[in-house]
Amino acid sequence: MASFGIDFGTTNTSVVECLITEHGMTKTPYGENNQPFPSLVALHPDKQPVFGWEVKKRRSQLIAEGYHVVASFKSILGSDQRVVVGKKEYSPVDVTALFLSYVKHRVEGMAGRKLEETVMAIPVDFKPEQRRSLRTAAEKAGIKIKSFVSEPTAAYVNCRQDLAGASNVAVFDWGGGTLDISLISIDKHEVSELAVTGQRLGGNDIDQMLARHLHAKISRQEGDPRTFDDLTPAERDQILERAEEAKKRLSTDDTAPIRLMRYAGKVMIRDIVTLDEFSKLIASRIDDAESLLHAAAEKAGVGIGQMDAILMVGGSCEMQPIFQRLERISEEYHLSIYRPDGIQWAVAGGAAVLSEQQPAYKLQKAFGVLLSDDSFYPVFEAGQVVPCKAQELRFGVVEDTTSAVFVFADESKVVLKRRSVPIKGFTAEGIHLQCEIDGDMIVHLRIFSDYAERMAVTDELNQLGFTYQIQ
Ligand SMILES: Nc1ncnc2c1ncn2[C@@H]1O[C@H](COP(=O)(O)OP(=O)(O)OP(=O)(O)O)[C@@H](O)[C@H]1O
Ligand SMILES: [Mg+2]
Repeated sequence: MASFGIDFGTTNTSVVECLITEHGMTKTPYGENNQPFPSLVALHPDKQPVFGWEVKKRRSQLIAEGYHVVASFKSILGSDQRVVVGKKEYSPVDVTALFLSYVKHRVEGMAGRKLEETVMAIPVDFKPEQRRSLRTAAEKAGIKIKSFVSEPTAAYVNCRQDLAGASNVAVFDWGGGTLDISLISIDKHEVSELAVTGQRLGGNDIDQMLARHLHAKISRQEGDPRTFDDLTPAERDQILERAEEAKKRLSTDDTAPIRLMRYAGKVMIRDIVTLDEFSKLIASRIDDAESLLHAAAEKAGVGIGQMDAILMVGGSCEMQPIFQRLERISEEYHLSIYRPDGIQWAVAGGAAVLSEQQPAYKLQKAFGVLLSDDSFYPVFEAGQVVPCKAQELRFGVVEDTTSAVFVFADESKVVLKRRSVPIKGFTAEGIHLQCEIDGDMIVHLRIFSDYAERMAVTDELNQLGFTYQIQ
């Protein structure tokens, strides 16, 4: 039986089917035009929605026909934003469900069999609400999510054979919506996430920066007093599209021409962006990206120098400034850099392998609380298989106060969450902690005092690292 993996991306969505037999492993990618499905939906008050490649190709024509093009809906998943089209309102879950139904339908047509369940790759810091929303959207589309896996880890699983000599790998996945980093250690068949970190910073943000920069330049030249936010939706759409094209051009060239039609009161405006100008503009974002890599290393309790390789995935890694920065880091710390072929299928490929092998998900590090003497008290030990539920724990207070502060951390004492709980302040007062980790890799906490169970505090946290046993 073959299994599917899905990489639902902010910009591109890919599906891979993995089959393992005694002759080895085969992976079949599914998308449109030999590329992943563009994550685009065009909605119309009266007509049927249009999806993916057709929206990308006919975007301006569809808008002229009264369609509302929804892009980057992954970024609003889990929020209460609404997409309003005529009299109809769509939630982010609705839009995602429509899109996933389309993907399912197309994949089934090509594969000749049903896509009913999958492993779904998600950004490292995808919040509990985002995970639930994605699960709901997939269910509405008729796809059951067997489990989630973080995107960079999936990319590593996919490229494992190519990185056979490396025992510590930093995966740097920079997409359209997020930058995700996973530091992975490999021991034979065991793949462990030493640390995962992520940030909402992607190619979309870079496009915005460049578009704003271009608009400021043009409005100065043309004497247009409007700010970027004053632009009409059509003008904004146009300049964002030109900015993205220019950004891509600057991945290979030193200059990129810009041509805008019917913009700032002119029939046509021409301009040029240089690589130097672009590099200066995004320099602070490149610094942020590098800082995140160092933050991951710190969280893992290792130095970057202990890594053997950097695996680069995601379309935004094509930008020369980040490529050069990672190259410099690799030279400084003596790491190799690996950018696989078929990069656009890497994350879905890894998800498909996990879907086919169905390994247990085990906690990479013990999870627990830091006590008042700064010692670590484990709630779950490393190696604990999830989902799991801990026995209720009871703590005492050391001070006469009306609130108890819980500090949740991993065994390396990296703080994951602080939570304060109202208490009565009696010396013998017991504070109870209930804790479980569900199948979506979310930790659920419930804390209450002997005297005030009514005032129980609940919370959730994500960002745990896992270990996978794969063949
Ligand atoms: N040649 C290129 N140069 C620079 N940027 C590029 C290039 N090709 C693609 N990109 C950018 O990469 C981003 C898309 O990358 P990718 O397909 O990896 O993202 P995604 O998986 O959809 O997003 P995410 O993983 O953040 O949800 C877009 O912002 C796109 O503009
Ligand atoms: Mg991605």
